[in-house]
Amino acid sequence: MVERRAEHAVKFFYSHLFWHNPGIRRLFPDSAGELERQRDRLFAALTHVVSHLENDTLLPYLRDLGRDHRKFLVGPEHYAAVGSSLLAALATTSGAAWTPEVEKAWSEAYQVMADAMTAGAAASEDPPWWDAEVVRHLQYGEDIGVLTLSPRAPLPYRPGQYVSVNSPRVPAVWRTYSLANAPRPDHTVDLHVSRIEGGLLSTALVREIQLGETLRLSAPAGRLTLRHADRPLTFIAAGTGWAPVRAMLEELADHPPDRDVRLFLAARDAAHLYDRPWIDAYAAAFGRIGVTYITPAPGRHRNEATARLATALGNRALWPEQDVYLSGPAVFMEETALLLEELGARPDRLFHDTVPVSGAARGGRPLGFGEWFLHRPAPHWHNPSDRAPRG
Ligand SMILES: Cc1cc2nc3c(=O)[nH]c(=O)nc-3n(C[C@H](O)[C@H](O)[C@H](O)COP(=O)(O)OP(=O)(O)OC[C@H]3O[C@@H](n4cnc5c(N)ncnc54)[C@H](O)[C@@H]3O)c2cc1C
Ligand code: HEM
Repeated sequence: MVERRAEHAVKFFYSHLFWHNPGIRRLFPDSAGELERQRDRLFAALTHVVSHLENDTLLPYLRDLGRDHRKFLVGPEHYAAVGSSLLAALATTSGAAWTPEVEKAWSEAYQVMADAMTAGAAASEDPPWWDAEVVRHLQYGEDIGVLTLSPRAPLPYRPGQYVSVNSPRVPAVWRTYSLANAPRPDHTVDLHVSRIEGGLLSTALVREIQLGETLRLSAPAGRLTLRHADRPLTFIAAGTGWAPVRAMLEELADHPPDRDVRLFLAARDAAHLYDRPWIDAYAAAFGRIGVTYITPAPGRHRNEATARLATALGNRALWPEQDVYLSGPAVFMEETALLLEELGARPDRLFHDTVPVSGAARGGRPLGFGEWFLHRPAPHWHNPSDRAPRG
């Protein structure tokens, strides 16, 4: 019932929350458009989680979520306010269906969530976020930036994981970026950022950020990390989805496996493989890795991109025996996962992070891999000959 009137419920929830607790407004992004677009994440999560309370994985998830909410400056004092606005929004949206019994059930369910989140926040020994200084900024063409950050305190993570990032240039806006290197002795980390047209944080990170500025990084997360099984390995990446693969390859170089390793890297054209010199040097030093760059021939039909990927993957033998790591834009991952399934890859040996496919990114309809490959308007690609260190 609430889902059918979700837009109304969300508007009511935030109006109620901000009216009764004006101080809470500053925890949320500034721009009205941004708030409009982002704010249903919190509301959707609240309603979704309540309806999945029996699930065993939920409590650990909520404890981590509570720990991570400290980066939004959320304290234990805010939970009661959010709870009463949630109940008020549900009551007004449900009409006569909002009986005392239903109210009691929701109220108890919210309390279970709030308790798990506040307990997770209180028990965490991590800081709410890590401050990290921008110490290097490489720009590839107009729209790709590689940032090296020096966290003030060491950031513990596993190669392949990502962090949420915030810049004071875009207050209260957090976005996830993969860490593109294995841990280094000096603790610096690299981010590979591809600018989205109109994108708030990616534009700031690629075009505006200056050396010496401080970014905030959340606790690392994500399940795209190497399983050290004795199986052949395949990495498939597109765009800046290359970043976590690079981190895992660095980890592999420290402990070279006695098994076959293959990398498939998709890019819009050969000129757009911004890290190719590094990959070629790595392949020469490592020996056991085969690299396939997948780029469509200039001016060819968009379906050719999909066909090339399918052919390249089809040439790789014994998919059921492989561990496969997949990273890139959501549409790319969706289509490639289907392709791999057809080739016989085992779902339990296919590793990737879940990336929600944004309706706006799809223009309201499914975007084919070929379209993404050849005609996707953003992010813009780059020309490596423009490569010039900044700052
Ligand atoms: C697990 C994970 C890891 C990620 N790692 C990286 C990484 O290593 N490097 C990297 O560059 N990005 C990465 N991303 C994407 C990143 O988190 C941001 O979504 C991206 O930078 C856009 O943020 P923004 O604030 O610039 O744009 P927003 O202000 O959020 O978006 C602006 C507009 O662009 C649309 N939009 C958002 N994303 C896309 C898209 N992909 N294609 C087309 N339109 C879009 C939005 O719907 C909106 O209309 C990762 C995402 C996830 C979930
Ligand atoms: C049971 C309680 C809660 C649940 C299940 C919940 C869930 C979530 C989820 C899943 C997100 C998106 C996570 C992300 O983007 O990293 C989120 C974001 C957020 N939450 Fe919560 N939350 C809860 C309570 C609160 C409270 C009490 C506050 C305090 C005001 C709060 C403030 C925020 C803010 C500011 C964001 C970021 C919104 C944005 O980026 O636009 N949350 N919440």
